[in-house]
Amino acid sequence: MYIKSVALKNYRNYSSAYVTFNEGLNIVVGKNAAGKTNLVESIYCSALGKSPRSNKYKDLIKWNEESCYIKVVVAKKYRDYTIEFGIDNMDKKRVAIDGIPLTRLSGLVGILNVVFFSPDEIKLIKESPQERRKFIDISLSQQSGVYLDALSKYNAILSQRNKLLKEKFNDANLAAQLYAWDVQMAKYGAQIIVQRYAFADSIAVYAKRIHDQITEGKEQLSVSYESGLERAEKSELESKFLQKLQQNFEKDKNLQYTSFGPHRDDLEILSNGIDMRKFGSQGQQRTVALSLKFAEIQLFKDELGESPILLLDDVLSELDESRRRQLLEMSSTLQTIITCTEFEEDVQGYKTIKIVGGQAVE
Ligand SMILES: Nc1ncnc2c1ncn2[C@@H]1O[C@H](COP(=O)(O)OP(=O)(O)OP(=O)(O)O)[C@@H](O)[C@H]1O
Ligand SMILES: [Mg+2]
Repeated sequence: MYIKSVALKNYRNYSSAYVTFNEGLNIVVGKNAAGKTNLVESIYCSALGKSPRSNKYKDLIKWNEESCYIKVVVAKKYRDYTIEFGIDNMDKKRVAIDGIPLTRLSGLVGILNVVFFSPDEIKLIKESPQERRKFIDISLSQQSGVYLDALSKYNAILSQRNKLLKEKFNDANLAAQLYAWDVQMAKYGAQIIVQRYAFADSIAVYAKRIHDQITEGKEQLSVSYESGLERAEKSELESKFLQKLQQNFEKDKNLQYTSFGPHRDDLEILSNGIDMRKFGSQGQQRTVALSLKFAEIQLFKDELGESPILLLDDVLSELDESRRRQLLEMSSTLQTIITCTEFEEDVQGYKTIKIVGGQAVE
């Protein structure tokens, strides 16, 4: 798949802009604060229905304006799709595909897929398990509507359960009240765990191969899902999870939150047997993150039969020359949109999109 065009209205520092892209490499250049990251972010928003940078929709609206609008045209194997994403003056988001409004975000699954890489992505390796769960969740949510639904239900149940634990920890009926939530939590939790195990298995194979290539065979990468529940069939996971929630009742009551479940799981990342989360150097962590992202691209190809779009925000300057060359080589088979302040690489046939003060000058 590839993006043909992006139109923006009162979005971030853009009053109005229209940008067209080519199928291969696109270089978005401009000075600091011109609006390069904003442009890439608008594509991400159209793919996932939210920003990678902010949880507040109204941050996306140009200051002193009331609403914003993004329109992206994506070319796919059989036809084009138009995605419209808007935030209105009530801070509500609206998403439409080919003019038809979506009632659920899962309607976006499989329309536009992106793999986003920015200097922040190093967090994926070195920061808390939450960052790694986010990586899995964002990737799986783009591949599977079932996953996205299970995840949003699970999160809603989790917050209800935690609310009960906080507000009613003294209530004699608490156990009975929790039970109804526990049953639902175990159901959706088991679905999440099954899919995460499978995801980690597949990504591990690709990431190992890619990492081997990038490090010229010097580092053996191993990735696996680290869960409080051992790998099992979904029905077994469900009953074990339910059991565990019951066992943990007293503990959770004291803590006033749910201490066990896939919301506490992690992704284990080892290079030559060393835990990269704790002991990786900056460069190693960055390279591992890159390997994982490229593995994600392969996974999308397997699952959806089409290449996703690779968004590289400001990453070239962080890599040494050989990594830069490898990155450009690996991205030559899919539409890639790179932002940078200047581009001096020795590659051919790319399109330059110049951004100056919130305006696209092609
Ligand atoms: N809601 C908003 N309304 C207006 N301007 C905004 C809004 N949100 C962010 N901006 C501004 O948009 C400008 C461009 O931001 P952006 O992150 O896209 O820059 P950039 O071109 O990627 O720069 P850099 O090279 O430093 O990464 C910033 O000056 C930022 O303050
Ligand atoms: Mg930027």
